[in-house]
Amino acid sequence: MPSVACATQDVGVDQSGPPPKPQGEPMKIRRSRWIAGSTLVVVAVVAAACSSSKSSTQSTTATTAANTPSTASVTAISVTSFGADFSAMAGLKSVASSGKGLIGVLLPDTTTSTRYVSYDAPDLTKAFQAAGLTSSDFKIDNAQGSAATMQTQAEADITAGASVLLVDALDSGSGAAIEANATSKGVKVIDYDRLVKGGSSGRVYVSFDNVKVGQLIGQGEVDCIKSWNVKTPNILIMDGDPTDNNATLFAQGYNGVLQPYFDNHSYVKVGEPAGTWTPSVAQTTFSQQYTAHPNINAVVTPNDDNANAVIAYLQSKSIPAKTFPTTGQDASLPGLQNILKGYQCGTVYKPIYLEAQAAAAVALYLRAGQTAPAGLVNGTTQDTTANAAVPSSLGVPIWVTVDNMASTVVKDQFQTASAICITVVATACKTYGIG
Ligand code: BGC
Repeated sequence: MPSVACATQDVGVDQSGPPPKPQGEPMKIRRSRWIAGSTLVVVAVVAAACSSSKSSTQSTTATTAANTPSTASVTAISVTSFGADFSAMAGLKSVASSGKGLIGVLLPDTTTSTRYVSYDAPDLTKAFQAAGLTSSDFKIDNAQGSAATMQTQAEADITAGASVLLVDALDSGSGAAIEANATSKGVKVIDYDRLVKGGSSGRVYVSFDNVKVGQLIGQGEVDCIKSWNVKTPNILIMDGDPTDNNATLFAQGYNGVLQPYFDNHSYVKVGEPAGTWTPSVAQTTFSQQYTAHPNINAVVTPNDDNANAVIAYLQSKSIPAKTFPTTGQDASLPGLQNILKGYQCGTVYKPIYLEAQAAAAVALYLRAGQTAPAGLVNGTTQDTTANAAVPSSLGVPIWVTVDNMASTVVKDQFQTASAICITVVATACKTYGIG
């Protein structure tokens, strides 16, 4: 019996007892990086192993689907179904056509990460369209960093007949207000990427295992300190915006990895100043800390855009390559190029096309008045404000360095070799087999 990777954050998924053998014909499921990792599983197994706390109806539905191939395409979708070609979304066409109302997507900003413009918006569009929705069935807005704008966009969506809102909130307070208003009007909500602490009951959370993201950053820093031969590391820990629950989970992950090194005095923690997702603020914070503590020779930076701002400052001080570790996430072009230049150790690659498809799939089920299958919503995340275990669909992040860039982001065409390999990194691209 293969083991089943269940995802959870803060609170464990109830995995009591070994999973029973799947019944009936196994469905054809493509391999993906969304949770299952290297293990092929059928929905019935995931349902049994990951959600014994869920209603028996969900497990039954999944098992029945396995026995009745004619409906399998509708009910069998799971976290392992999605791939880079979006073809799994076509299996949801009947769910899509039985649903009603607009799906409103609320994205937070365009300045803290390239992901919202380059990936989330186009990938969600592609996912909805692959399931048969037309442009009048969904609307994707970006709040440009303003919680008030997001609130206005949410209200406009509801007025336009929204039945589902995907909320990637700027902060939990404003997200919870948007969700409470939506729920009071019968609109279903999804916490997209960021958990809204104190959000509505009945919501589903779609994201990555964000503690794992932080652990990858922490371990990447440790490995890099070793390979760049940083003697007596004096590390500044920089965090993301504390209003984003993800930033808290990332910090939980990397601080957990680094603490033993601080405890045994092999590393020195210089400080952990107030976090931010605004790159210019991160740069100011770093320059102030560096001026006050010129012995800083390594930094944990929580995403590529913050790292890029810090790296620009380091370069202005003529710090040589491969001497001063920084970290990141989002596998952005500048992030990957900074890795090849030797100014960033690595980046956490989150295949957003998988996250977008999982979110679009959950949205389609909610829009059709159905419960998303247990294989799709395969974990729980504890909302400590609402004191609730929020049903979750969580993907697996991957640490990318020079060594696996070709076999991950480039192979998946998340970023193309030609876009990465600008003149200044052309030699490094050749060395590491990129393009
Ligand atoms: C997202 C990251 C992003 C950061 C800043 C987080 O909530 O998960 O991918 O880099 O926000 O936008």
